[in-house]
Amino acid sequence: MATQATFRIWRGDAAGGQFQDYTTQVEEGMVVLDAVHRIQAQQANDLAVRWNCKAGKCGSCSAEINGTPKLMCMTRLSDINLEAPVTLEPMHAFPPIRDLVTDVSWNFRAKKTIKPFKPRTPDAPDGTWRMQQDDVERVQEFRKCIECFLCQDVCHVLREHHKHDEFIGPRLLVYAAALEMHPLDTEDRVSDLRHKHSIGYCNITTCCRQVCPESITITENAIIPLKERVVDRYFDPLKRLFRI
Ligand code: F3S
Repeated sequence: MATQATFRIWRGDAAGGQFQDYTTQVEEGMVVLDAVHRIQAQQANDLAVRWNCKAGKCGSCSAEINGTPKLMCMTRLSDINLEAPVTLEPMHAFPPIRDLVTDVSWNFRAKKTIKPFKPRTPDAPDGTWRMQQDDVERVQEFRKCIECFLCQDVCHVLREHHKHDEFIGPRLLVYAAALEMHPLDTEDRVSDLRHKHSIGYCNITTCCRQVCPESITITENAIIPLKERVVDRYFDPLKRLFRI
């Protein structure tokens, strides 16, 4: 399919920027990141782009392609309309550093506010634990997360309402769910989920689940069960009556 395609790439930094068009040769099998690399090599040596594995596993090359949060390395050009310019922007939910690179460090700071894993005492004579296979499998899905932060980027609570100081976002709710539902964990994060991590801001739009490159069922399998725990503790009339 050797042909020409135009990429409308946002160039700038924290002070501001604008789109710039680059037309380049594209071929069968190329992904968006390949085109960006070709532009970088041939036309814009100073174009900043973060990437690492080029296999959808490192979560580095997150960007907005024609307005949708995606991994550039996993987006085939054959799936995009190349008749019109392809728009490439940095993620909107995080501060731009330069060009397609954003500062995602807030996610790692917010992660530290979640209470860590606290295993129960070993229950076997050899000092190890026994767990039900079903319980192990329930949290396995959450561990597929590659921390690309596309779900954080698409969530309107962060993207449009900028509630970073209050709401931890879908990625970190998945992390909290992995801990909360872990069969060995004894920590109680329910109060924090309500008061500190503001899970109530999530109105279950499912946008996060739709952009996850690992197809984690973020909303249904992680967020809703956490919400149920909060509702169970704080809004069940009988439990409210006896709560200290
Ligand atoms: Fe945001 Fe996902 Fe909830 S996109 S509003 S965390 S369902």
